[in-house]
Amino acid sequence: DWTMKAFREEAIERVRAQVGKGRVICGLSGGVDSAVAAVLIHEAIGDQLTCVFVDHGLLRAAEAEQVVTLFRDSYNIPLVHVQAQELFIGALEGVSDPEVKRKTIGKLFIDVFDEEAKKIGGAEFLAQGTLYPDVIESVSFTGGPSVTIKSHHNVGGLPERMNMKLVEPLRELFKDEVRVLGRELGLPEAFVGRHPFPGPGLAIRVPGEITREKLDILRKADTIYLDEIRKAGLYDKIWQAFAVLLPVKTVGVMGDGRTYDHVCALRAVTSVDGMTADFYPFDMAFLGRVATRIINEVKGINRVTYDITSKPPGTIEWE
Ligand code: XMP
Repeated sequence: DWTMKAFREEAIERVRAQVGKGRVICGLSGGVDSAVAAVLIHEAIGDQLTCVFVDHGLLRAAEAEQVVTLFRDSYNIPLVHVQAQELFIGALEGVSDPEVKRKTIGKLFIDVFDEEAKKIGGAEFLAQGTLYPDVIESVSFTGGPSVTIKSHHNVGGLPERMNMKLVEPLRELFKDEVRVLGRELGLPEAFVGRHPFPGPGLAIRVPGEITREKLDILRKADTIYLDEIRKAGLYDKIWQAFAVLLPVKTVGVMGDGRTYDHVCALRAVTSVDGMTADFYPFDMAFLGRVATRIINEVKGINRVTYDITSKPPGTIEWE
């Protein structure tokens, strides 16, 4: 794509002009945006860049290995894998308000990045894969008064006090454009096509207070759901699909016993840019199959529902 080729060259020049001889830390989230930002910045400034992947204990099953393996195997970019599960989960104890969760996580990310910056002898810049919709949605709701819907950690969730300056080479792009740029930069197709995953991770898919146990239950349900979506050949037709673990217990019957367990909600949407979305019209047989597997295989869930809310008025994530 010739326009992306031009964008790539311009973006590289802009990064060089902004950064000079400075050092840059790039936070990798496991998603396509931060990966594309990292590869682009690496082309611009080479080993002035260090990538940091923070495992905050809020990742999906096997996610950390996938990201670290991809980067270590495909790129010669220094990558620090920070184990910060205790730090994040500890700080979120007793927190149930969605915005407090987001801000707590945003602040801890910055603490971790600051610390990693010190370890490499100081970094003046923090790079992120912020896209245009992230900027808009964190600031105000299109067409309405200036109300924050959610503090996306890429932008609004960051603390006021920050030592590093931001480098955000994708700030003018939409997701479909980032994917084109990713292909242009030679990122593997499987990575370019990944569904978005939010910085605050599973914390915003467990409404209310988070516990390790709830996170484990959610990971199992989410793995089954995505596994069935892939098997049905639907992954690439869907913008994003995930499970949510509701803070509600309901009564069920299994074998000849009573159960009293959590409700799991399934979400899947189609979208072009994440700013509006429609729920995905699965057939009932598919949904039935997923529900049966989750209830049979995941201890702690005895009821499954499908979310048929579009955006607006819903948002894609539940918090
Ligand atoms: P919402 O829930 O606002 O989500 O309709 C729109 C898109 O943004 C993703 N999202 C985030 N991504 N940090 C991110 O990097 C965040 O804090 C965040 N919150 C939501 C969401 O997964 C969806 O793709």
